[in-house]
Amino acid sequence: MKLTRKDILGIKDLAVDEINLILETAESFIEVSTREIKKVPTLRGKTIINLFFEASTRTRTSFEIAAKRLSADTINISASTSSVVKGETLVDTARNLEAMNPDVIVIRHSAAGAPHMLAGMIKQSIINAGDGAHEHPSQALLDMMTIKEKKGRIAGIKVAIVGDIAHSRVARSNIYGLTKMGAKVIVAGPAMMLPRNIEQMGVTVYHQLKEAIKDVDIIMMLRIQLERQQQRIFPSLREYSNYFCLNRQNITLAKEDVLVMHPGPINRGIEIAPDIADGPYSVILDQVKNGVAVRMALLYLLTGGKS
Ligand code: CP
Repeated sequence: MKLTRKDILGIKDLAVDEINLILETAESFIEVSTREIKKVPTLRGKTIINLFFEASTRTRTSFEIAAKRLSADTINISASTSSVVKGETLVDTARNLEAMNPDVIVIRHSAAGAPHMLAGMIKQSIINAGDGAHEHPSQALLDMMTIKEKKGRIAGIKVAIVGDIAHSRVARSNIYGLTKMGAKVIVAGPAMMLPRNIEQMGVTVYHQLKEAIKDVDIIMMLRIQLERQQQRIFPSLREYSNYFCLNRQNITLAKEDVLVMHPGPINRGIEIAPDIADGPYSVILDQVKNGVAVRMALLYLLTGGKS
């Protein structure tokens, strides 16, 4: 099976068959990263541009590693070191990159919909590496891959997503993906951090961490995105952590074999206690490992690869 779409803009657009194709392709790429020579010639002669208008450690590095492990040429562009600082627009930047004929442009931007706009304008494939508080499809795919790897399936798994849901593109993409794949999704956070009518996305809503994580298989903790809040919407970080920090006492409410996930970056001691982030329940670094394989799969499938 081949992926027939030109771009990966969000999980909302993807069919279950496409998600399965991406996850199965990613699973087949895991082995490449364990070799002594971590490289296959699959994308030799292809060019991938990483165009990041927002900070990133995991996403940008893993897209670059993914491209290099597939033997593609990669170029990283940060807004701060590009002609954007001289006033060039996103559209002009993209048109100039298009003229150099890359094969895929990976873009992260603070404006929701920026990758969608470029996808409609330029001929190359676009991958959304996070657009504002809208979607982060490659993160949700690596999260689903990690759940499948650790639990053997996604359908029927009970997942609690806890924290700043309103400002989280990770939460939105995971809600779309996990519900499509048959998981039961719970979201929890203070009322100001939950979007109005979020129930319409097929999730159950709680306002207390302790209620939300009861008997769940997966707890996905999220960072408070202060950079996306117009004004501070809660009294203090200490008060937030008193109610919403996952720690060794409250985690006992979840299933005995619960797994703890976090997309990173972590704010230790605020949404997650250090001994939980580093402890036996945590699969946070497995998520990072799977991020390379998922991004290899996306680059491979978008440039014409078959499963
Ligand atoms: N999870 C994630 O998107 O991390 P970065 O912001 O470091 O890319």
